[in-house]
Amino acid sequence: MKGGVGKSTLSTMIAKFIAEERGTPVTVVDLDPQRGATILLLGARYAKQDAGPGIYEILQSEQDNIPSTELFNQALVDSPYNELIRVIPSDASLARLRGETPRELLSLALQDAPIREDETVIVDTSPDVTFCEMGIMASDMVFVPITMSHQSGVPTLNTVQAVLYAEKEMGGLIPTLIGRAKWQEARIESWRESLMQTDLVKGRGIDVLPAMPFSHSIPSGKWRWGKLPKGCPEMLDAIYVKLFGEHALVVEDLKDEAELVVGMVAA
Ligand SMILES: Nc1ncnc2c1ncn2[C@@H]1O[C@H](COP(=O)(O)OP(=O)(O)O)[C@@H](O)[C@H]1O
Ligand SMILES: [Mg+2]
Repeated sequence: MKGGVGKSTLSTMIAKFIAEERGTPVTVVDLDPQRGATILLLGARYAKQDAGPGIYEILQSEQDNIPSTELFNQALVDSPYNELIRVIPSDASLARLRGETPRELLSLALQDAPIREDETVIVDTSPDVTFCEMGIMASDMVFVPITMSHQSGVPTLNTVQAVLYAEKEMGGLIPTLIGRAKWQEARIESWRESLMQTDLVKGRGIDVLPAMPFSHSIPSGKWRWGKLPKGCPEMLDAIYVKLFGEHALVVEDLKDEAELVVGMVAA
């Protein structure tokens, strides 16, 4: 429930990592009127066009009690960056569904959706509570990026509470180093340790996964068609282990296995 913490970047990277390492299809559902995942996976120009139905039309159809299977098929767009990645795009019209909209709409839409058995569906949410809760309800596992900032605590707590309330599995908190500041890098380890001692994490059995490192190439988006930025594969492997119960990367290739799952806090 916080903006600018790396949700869209992480969603897109996880999609790329699964497609490349597992070789199975991934559908990314953009559940944010700010369309971060749509822009990252389809390009900024795509989002400016009015190209067919998107997540708004799908959810609207579900709200009108009309199964959205056909719309879902029409809405799927192939990413030019990876042939295994498809996107359900979003645009500003999604904001019309704020407020009293039933939170089950996306789960219902996914039940009607033509999803393959080996397909992974990733939902990129919005800071808006409606869409955040809707995304949580539609998911089996939730990952929550968190920046090293005083303002992150409350929205993160609210998000984790929503996950626990919906009885969904917390994949873990993922510290993200969005700013370039050296002081952040210097303090990341001690910050992560103090994060693990907070009431939020301790006693709830929530893991703090390896941090997403800062990288210049992340804002430019170059990594979408090339190699993932330095340090990102290790972070993504820890997410992959949570999702699939096995490593994607050969363990010997990982710099320090002990560093990988830093915060195993017993329930
Ligand atoms: N690890 C990182 N290093 C540098 N910049 C980052 C990193 N992660 C995200 N960013 C940048 O921070 C901004 C917000 O990230 P984004 O993924 O859009 O967050 P959210 O979806 O939570 O709003 C974007 O401009 C993105 O390029
Ligand atoms: Mg976003």
